Amino acid sequence: MTTILDTTPDDDELGLPAARRRSAALERQIHERPGRFRALTGDRPTGRLHLGHYFGTLHNRVRLQNLGVDMMVLIADYQVLTDRDVADRLAEHVEDLTLDYLAVGIDPDRATVFTHSAVPALNQLLLPFLSLVSVSELGRNPTVKDEIAHSRQSAVSGLMFTYPVHQAADILFCKAGLVPVGQDQLPHLEVARTVARRFNSRYGPVFPEPEALLSAAPLLLGTDGGKMSKSRGNAITLAATADETARMIRGAKTDADRDITYDPAARPEVSSLVLLAALCLNRDPHEVAGEIGGRGAAGLKGLVTDAVNDRFAPIRARRAELAQDRAHIRRVLRDGNEWANAIADDTLKEVREAMKAFY
Ligand code: TRP
Repeated sequence: MTTILDTTPDDDELGLPAARRRSAALERQIHERPGRFRALTGDRPTGRLHLGHYFGTLHNRVRLQNLGVDMMVLIADYQVLTDRDVADRLAEHVEDLTLDYLAVGIDPDRATVFTHSAVPALNQLLLPFLSLVSVSELGRNPTVKDEIAHSRQSAVSGLMFTYPVHQAADILFCKAGLVPVGQDQLPHLEVARTVARRFNSRYGPVFPEPEALLSAAPLLLGTDGGKMSKSRGNAITLAATADETARMIRGAKTDADRDITYDPAARPEVSSLVLLAALCLNRDPHEVAGEIGGRGAAGLKGLVTDAVNDRFAPIRARRAELAQDRAHIRRVLRDGNEWANAIADDTLKEVREAMKAFY
């Protein structure tokens, strides 16, 4: 296949170059007037978050919050119901996720942490929104296709199929202008933009079109060299102890070349470990690799273990302390849900007025 552009066809299909340029422009505007922006992002409560989540998105959420952006952090608890194993332990997962958020520095005085199942008006938006998209559009969504392919279910539920529309409700209920996400979420965001546009043109202007804020998420691999993932058991969690961390890194896949270099294309496993150390130390990965030099995989692993354990010691200590205070966790969620409900009720009222469905 020939490509004329210096991007891969996949990148282009997703509109990635344009999305990256737009994100850079948004970053400049955020720095000028952070208070003008509301951002919404979130996670499905499927277990404890790991270092990939931290450097990929959590760190960025805390940065935006600290700049003064109004942060809404969603725990997407309805969207895990299709996974039986996860659904059976929902409350535990929600609590774990909340603890992870608070431990990394999401501050409930400045950010709203909420669960979408507790916000009825948010979910009611799903009905008018579903009327605005076709079944074939949903069937084409690449992220849904991917998730269906990877799910352990034999049949695709209606909930899974309509996930992007539900996600549109998650974003639009609070009129979030910014959605800090990884590039895998771009197709979902496109659905939210389409829903906003179609709603506005049919019923009048209610929703701003949300924009993706792509962060330069570093690609960290799991300790087996595959994609880092909770379900593959190859991820170091935020909550892991120093010993567990050491054990996982000791078992991590490397290669036979004693000289440590940073070369993600040729040496993905070694380079991912170098990158992890560099991220923890706020340093350049080439420099870190150069310093390890001929000390081999053992030298590399020792350095990565210390770097991770030093960087995450305060976060882990805070997490352990917060875990003792269940009442606090419940209060954070109750307050977050209360505020999310107030916002959602206002939006639903506006929506019903726009639809002339107010009797
Ligand atoms: N789909 C996201 C994920 O799998 C989670 C999510 C649900 C989300 N609703 C959202 C992310 C709204 C951003 C905005 O990680």
